[in-house]
Amino acid sequence: MEGKHSIIEVKDLISVMNNTVILSDINFHVEQGEIAVIIGGSGSGKTTVLKHLLGLYHSMDQAVSVMGENPSVLEEHEQKAFYKKIGVMYQEGALLKSLTVGENVGLPLEQHTNLPPDFITEVVRLKLQMVQLENAIDKFPSQLSGGMLKRAALARAIVMDPPVLFCDEPGSGLDPVTLYALDELIINLKEQLGMTVVMVTHDVSSVLHMADRVIFLEKGVSIFQGTVKDAKYSDHANIREFFARGMGE
Ligand SMILES: Nc1ncnc2c1ncn2[C@@H]1O[C@H](COP(=O)(O)OP(=O)(O)O)[C@@H](O)[C@H]1O
Ligand SMILES: [Mg+2]
Repeated sequence: MEGKHSIIEVKDLISVMNNTVILSDINFHVEQGEIAVIIGGSGSGKTTVLKHLLGLYHSMDQAVSVMGENPSVLEEHEQKAFYKKIGVMYQEGALLKSLTVGENVGLPLEQHTNLPPDFITEVVRLKLQMVQLENAIDKFPSQLSGGMLKRAALARAIVMDPPVLFCDEPGSGLDPVTLYALDELIINLKEQLGMTVVMVTHDVSSVLHMADRVIFLEKGVSIFQGTVKDAKYSDHANIREFFARGMGE
């Protein structure tokens, strides 16, 4: 493809677990600086695709390329270097309850760098500022609202300035106003940090708000990739319906 640079490529990806075919034909690419949104019904394979991109599931040599590498076939030291270059925000947020927000956000820096503690604190403060949580640095997760927890998890995901950010249903469980604010924050961070974002969602409003590229999965097959505009007028009734249902909300 001319012009922009593909930072992620998935080619004929299949995934079989316990003799069950989970993914049978996944094809898409993501260009640098885009927000790519993976959509599709429950059980269509969205999270499984993400796990292949993260190298948590094995992918055939040429099937997955993230920043030029298939993370599932890397040597251990290469894998460590790979994980420094990606941020991940899981559905459940998953902050450690026994640590403060600041400690949670600083954890990747503690684990993956030799930076001095004062410097780590400064980076954590800066990242918390970016998600408007600077006042929560000494709070514990149990003291935060749902939206604040998501923002803290986001701050932790971006603390290493990763070129690529993966999010699996980051807004799940949020009310529409808080969800909109979180989506807006992800867009702003992407711009500020020059990231590429791959996000799974089932929320149509998030897709309309954020997506530069839409990848639609149905039963383990990527039946569409393209712009939101093209998706809305797709030949596939199920894709058109996905957008029609959401827009009435
Ligand atoms: N580790 C696994 N072993 C067997 N089946 C799985 C496993 N993980 C997911 N599945 C199945 O694969 C399908 C896709 O799952 P998933 O990727 O989580 O879907 P989505 O995120 O789109 O809801 C589902 O039918 C699910 O039950
Ligand atoms: Mg899922």
